[in-house]
Amino acid sequence: MAVPERDELTGTETTQHEWDGITELDTPLPRWWLWTFYITIIWGIGYTIAYPAWPLVTSATEGVLGYSSRMQLAETIEAHEASRQEITQRVGKADFSEIEADTELDDFAQAGGAAIFRTYCSQCHGAGGAGAPGYPNLRDDDWLWGGAHEDIYLTIRNGIRWAENEETRDSAMPAFGADEILDDAQIAAVADHALSLSGAGEASAEGAEIYAENCAACHGDNGEGVRELGGPKLSDGIWLYGGEREDVIRTITYSRAGAMPSWDTRLTEAEIKQVTHYVHSRAAGE
Ligand code: HEC
Ligand code: HEC
Repeated sequence: MAVPERDELTGTETTQHEWDGITELDTPLPRWWLWTFYITIIWGIGYTIAYPAWPLVTSATEGVLGYSSRMQLAETIEAHEASRQEITQRVGKADFSEIEADTELDDFAQAGGAAIFRTYCSQCHGAGGAGAPGYPNLRDDDWLWGGAHEDIYLTIRNGIRWAENEETRDSAMPAFGADEILDDAQIAAVADHALSLSGAGEASAEGAEIYAENCAACHGDNGEGVRELGGPKLSDGIWLYGGEREDVIRTITYSRAGAMPSWDTRLTEAEIKQVTHYVHSRAAGE
């Protein structure tokens, strides 16, 4: 049976297909829908002309407006930097007492210093600056090279045993065992003496003599430390490389020579000041 071209009931055109007596109607799309559809196509074409869109082999079409999200980011960063430039310059010029006295500079340096610390320092000194074996705790009042603002500043700027920086803080504890300056028995005796300075080991006359001759110049007569040489205090029971007898013997035998990068080439003057101020205020700064 032939299918009618129009459905009798609705008057709508049919596709002239019929299944088991059910005729398929060919209802036209609503106008509003169709026009919206055409508009989106036109808009889409316009967009791909105006903005970066079609992928090429190594890049993409650039778009006539010259927009790029990378450039937008660069502009945003630039605007941000510009808005901070004034205060950054003030921090760069101020000395530490001025930074401490001025709440605005103080807040800015603290916040900036904390961010710099997280980025550049925490991998060695720990997230909160609490340190790890070989990496000093920056939150206690035990300082190898001094805990005043200026001392911390110089340590950070020039690094420690850092060959790339001529002004780096430097000193070298001899490897008393490896270089055969002392024999095993002498090392054991002086290790016990070093431990006894904090009340841990058993003092002996021999140990005291070896200490006075070989160690006191860098660690002080009574283990009070010598900051000009970064010689740690031995009398406080705080150990950078471990306070077990074996640790101390190892330190004396091989020496340790911890190194810290200098930051003068990687951070600006203002940034070094900010992180100095941050470290100083978090620790029992001097
Ligand atoms: C690669 C590891 C490393 C990084 C990164 C590092 N440090 Fe250090 N830092 C050390 C070591 C090791 C020492 C101890 C060296 C020594 O034995 O004298 C040290 C010592 C210090 C000291 C001296 C502590 C004292 O008792 O006198 C300060 C202050 C300091 N670091 C601050 C910082 C700051 C701030 C940063 C980030 C800008 C930083 N460090 C990044 C390894 C590092
Ligand atoms: C030229 C200076 C110098 C001399 C001499 C020297 N030391 Fe040291 N010593 C240091 C320095 C600097 C450090 C720590 C920094 C580093 O090497 O990382 C250190 C570290 C140590 C430590 C580790 C401290 C800790 O907190 O873990 C011990 C223990 C020690 N020395 C004992 C001795 C003894 C004992 C002698 C003598 C036999 C001696 N030192 C001679 C400079 C010296």
